[in-house]
Amino acid sequence: MRLENKIESLYHRYWLNNYAAPNLTLIKGEGEKVWDDRGNEYLDFTSGVATNSIGHCHPNLVAAIGRQAEKIIHASNLFRNETQAKLAEALVERIAPGRLFFCNSGTEASETLLKLSRLFGLKKKGAGANPFKVIVSSNAFHGRTFGGMSATPQPKIQNSFKPLLPNFPVAQFNDSDSFAALIDRDTAAILIEPIQGEGGIHVAKKEFLRDLRTLCTDNGILLLMDEVQSGTGRTGAFLAHEFAGITPDAIGMAKGLGGGFPIGAVWISDAYADLFTPGSHGSTFGGNPLGCAAALAVLQTIEEENLLSRVKKLSAPWMEQLVDLQKRHELIVEIRGRGFLVGLQLNEDPGELRKLLQQAGLLTVAASGNVLRLLPPLTVSEASLRQSILTLDTALTTYGKATAPKP
Ligand SMILES: Cc1ncc(COP(=O)(O)O)c(C=O)c1O
Repeated sequence: MRLENKIESLYHRYWLNNYAAPNLTLIKGEGEKVWDDRGNEYLDFTSGVATNSIGHCHPNLVAAIGRQAEKIIHASNLFRNETQAKLAEALVERIAPGRLFFCNSGTEASETLLKLSRLFGLKKKGAGANPFKVIVSSNAFHGRTFGGMSATPQPKIQNSFKPLLPNFPVAQFNDSDSFAALIDRDTAAILIEPIQGEGGIHVAKKEFLRDLRTLCTDNGILLLMDEVQSGTGRTGAFLAHEFAGITPDAIGMAKGLGGGFPIGAVWISDAYADLFTPGSHGSTFGGNPLGCAAALAVLQTIEEENLLSRVKKLSAPWMEQLVDLQKRHELIVEIRGRGFLVGLQLNEDPGELRKLLQQAGLLTVAASGNVLRLLPPLTVSEASLRQSILTLDTALTTYGKATAPKP
C-alpha cells in the first residue's frame, strides 16, 4: 500500500470525526511554502491558522527549540525557568506594566480572562449585586472549552453542548451603544476581539474600541482583549488594538506567539494582576522552557527582521491588488482585514474555490459567513504575494465560468 493511502486509511479508521477530513498530507515546510507527500509545492496562506507567524521552520525558531531541548524541556511551574522570566519581561516591555500567565492555547487564554472577570466580580460583589456578566460580541469566537464556547455566540459552536455557562449577554460588534445598553450593576467585563477572525474578518473601528475603553473605565468594569488570532504582528502592529491607542485591562494571546509551537499567554495590567493568588489558577505545561524559548525566538525575529514595518509595507499594495480582483470577479463582495489577516467576503460558500486554489498551489482557510481567509506568514516574500494574486485571478475566472448560468 502506498504511504499516502496508508495514512489516509489510518485517519479514516482512528481519527475522531470532529474535523472535516483533510485531503493533503504535508511533510515539509520552509517559509511560506509547504510540500505534500507527492512532492507538490504549495504557498501556505493558512500559516497553521495564523500560527506559523515567521513561516515554516525559520532557522531562528528551529535553532532556539533545538538549543533549549538539549538543556531542559519541561520542569513545571514548581520551579523557575529562565526563558519564562525573559518572555514575561519581553511581553511587558511591548505591552504596558503588568504581569503574565502562560498557558498552551488560545482557549486557555480565554479561560484565564474569564477567570479574571470572576475574581474581579467577587471582589466587587456588594449588597444584592452579582457582577459576573461578561458582555461579548455578535460573531465572536473565543475558543472551544466551556468558557470559550459560552463566550462564543454561534449556534454551530454552542448548540450540541448546552447547558453552557450563564451570563454572557451579546451586543453588536462595532456598535458601542449596544454594549452600553447591556451594562448594569451585575456586569464584570467586556470581552472583544479587535479583529474577528473565525467570525469572518470583521475589523473593529477605532472609535468603537475607544468607546468600549471609556465605557469600561466609567462603569468600573474590565476591558478584556482577545488577541489570540490578531496578535503577534499579524496586522503590522504587535497587537491589533494598538491602532486605537487604548490599553485594555487584560489581553489573551496564543497562535502566532510560538510560531507553531503551542503556547498561550495572558497579560494582566498591574491594577488587576493581584486578583490571582496562589492556587487560584494553573497549567502544568504553561510557560514551559521549550514553549517560551520558541516565543522568545519569534519576538527576536520580529525585531531583527523588522517584521511589523514589513507587514505594513507589503500588505498595502497586496490589499489594493485584492480590491482590484474584487472589481473583476463578481464572486467577491468585499475585502476586509488589516496586514496579513485578510478575508474575502464571497457571495457563496468558499469550499469549491478553495479546492481550485489548492489544485493551483495556494492553501487558504474558510471563516464564518462565506469568507475566504488569507493568512500568509509575516515573513512572506513579495514574489509569493504576487503569485497569490495571479493564482486567485485564474481560479476565480475558472470558478466564474464553471458556475455561470447556461445561455
Ligand atoms: C480570537 C480567538 N480566540 C481564541 C481562539 C482559540 O484558540 P485555540 O484554538 O488555540 O484554543 C481562537 C482560535 O481560532 C481565536 O481566533
